[in-house]
Amino acid sequence: MCGIVAYIGHREAYPILIKGLHRLEYRGYDSAGIALIDDNEINVYKTKGKVRDLEHFTESKNINGKIGIAHTRWATHGEPNNANAHPHYSETASLALVHNGIIENYTLLKKALQEHGYNFKSDTDTEVLVQLIEYIKTSNNCSLFEAVQSALKQVIGAYAIAVIDKNNKEEIVAARKSSPLVVGLGKEEYFVASDVTPIIEYTNKVVYLNDEEVVLLRPKEQINIVNLNNTITKVDVKSLNMSISQLEKGGYPHFMLKEINEQPKTIIDCIRGRINVEATNVILSGVIDHKDKILNAGRIIIVACGTSWHAALIGKHLIEEFCKIPVEVEYASEFRYRNPVINKGDLMIAISQSGETADTLAAVQLGKEKGAFIYGICNVVGSSIPRATHTGTYIHVGPEIGVASTKAFTGQVTVLTMLAMTIAKEKKSIAKERFLSILKSLKSLPELMEEVLMLDERIKDLSKIFTYAHNFLYLGRGYNYPLALEGALKLKEISYIHAEGYPAAEMKHGPIALIDNEMPTFVIATTDSIYEKTVSNIQEIKARGGKVIALVTKGDKIVSSMADFSLEIPDVDECLSPVVACIPLQLFAYHIAINKGRNVDQPRNLAKSVTVE
Ligand code: M6R
Repeated sequence: MCGIVAYIGHREAYPILIKGLHRLEYRGYDSAGIALIDDNEINVYKTKGKVRDLEHFTESKNINGKIGIAHTRWATHGEPNNANAHPHYSETASLALVHNGIIENYTLLKKALQEHGYNFKSDTDTEVLVQLIEYIKTSNNCSLFEAVQSALKQVIGAYAIAVIDKNNKEEIVAARKSSPLVVGLGKEEYFVASDVTPIIEYTNKVVYLNDEEVVLLRPKEQINIVNLNNTITKVDVKSLNMSISQLEKGGYPHFMLKEINEQPKTIIDCIRGRINVEATNVILSGVIDHKDKILNAGRIIIVACGTSWHAALIGKHLIEEFCKIPVEVEYASEFRYRNPVINKGDLMIAISQSGETADTLAAVQLGKEKGAFIYGICNVVGSSIPRATHTGTYIHVGPEIGVASTKAFTGQVTVLTMLAMTIAKEKKSIAKERFLSILKSLKSLPELMEEVLMLDERIKDLSKIFTYAHNFLYLGRGYNYPLALEGALKLKEISYIHAEGYPAAEMKHGPIALIDNEMPTFVIATTDSIYEKTVSNIQEIKARGGKVIALVTKGDKIVSSMADFSLEIPDVDECLSPVVACIPLQLFAYHIAINKGRNVDQPRNLAKSVTVE
């Protein structure tokens, strides 16, 4: 989704802003722009396309200035074109503003401003906001800071903004509501960004803004944060523990491939300090510290979107099997709008890689209002969802830059497994032998994942056979049913091939009508408690001339003899099968997308962090 970078201090702003925009590219965008103050003028340069197009556009322009704001836009109001790109000027070009989010009442505000003689050059809601700020500043003869505060009180919707004034190159005003914004603190310099990736190269000291906070940044002064009612907020400076190398490709052609290959290591980071095989224990402090609330929950609701929702379906299976607590899994976007029944004493689990997904955050807020106890499972440390929950567990898989979620999924399933085990052990609802066997499997995951990654060349060859398929079916059962959904999502989002995931047995209730020799099916048919049933489903496909790629357990003879192509993965406890089995699905989608010449890290129309509903 849209990305903001801003800088004020003693260095030239342009290189910092451009580099920052590159770092935010992973979020997804369709235009980019920059505004710099030089000689009491704001120079705005913006263009449809990529950040490199913006760089070409600015080649012979004046890019001087020690203060600036920059933006990557993911279109919401108005098509992606030069006029709608940010930054936007105010009427007299004395202010420029960048904005993430949506101003819902912009039509009304625009009409009122037009009646006061304001003209608009774009179709955006953002231009309305900068005009409103200028209108208030001029008519009330107040400071930029006061004008921003006052304008935001009139706004309904979501925003993260940064504003500059050509007559004051010593300050930037920024604010947020429901859209993330973080301030980096340097020596007599400040950085502002949608997430920490543009900042960590310069400082590891950051302040995350909370909703309805407005910040005044002057390089020679302390950071000053107040809310819309002018109450001063205590500044909570956090130290980041992240390195630049984590944000780079490390020799891989794409972030997605790097992130797929990182999984054996990220799982080590995810389980580190949380499992102890010798002491036969799993400890998630988020559970232990809130035992009463969690163990006594009569019901668990898991809210999430996309890949995180697929992990949630696996979580349901794990928690119901081990803990005997009923679990409901909800699309956060549906849950928030259907007046759901939430009882005091319910436990809500919110799963989100980015920790910023607007629908998931809204579901968390709703759950909180209705008295549920909220547990977050997130990756991005300090993001909005972990800050809004009562407790939780970070998956600790490091920054995920590719838009297609890969290592976050395996981290989420691993944390859900540890969560279910911790609760089950405390509740004594799991047999000791089963607990120990899963514990051993957890420990062996990195090794097994390394082994599966060796299938890469074979999967690459296989992908060549299916590059031109128009449709794909993915089937799985039990723990592997959500994985079928995930495999289909990976393929469609990066290759743009239509793909559907189904529980294998559902096929005969409709999708079987699609089967012919042009409709390939990817079946996850590992040796588990319902293996025989899956075998029957494969027979049904073969009887109708369908092509089958099967993912089987090493040594399998039955499915391998029926399938057109099979890929062997090592044996693992069935509840952890998705963590291992997802790797071939990720690699298959990756290679097909590469064969088709797709932009795998930034697929069309998609955003990494979906901060609008
Ligand atoms: O950051 P989140 O986990 O909340 O994101 C949820 C979805 O937007 C995300 O998983 C999306 O579906 C990915 N593109 C999947 O690869």
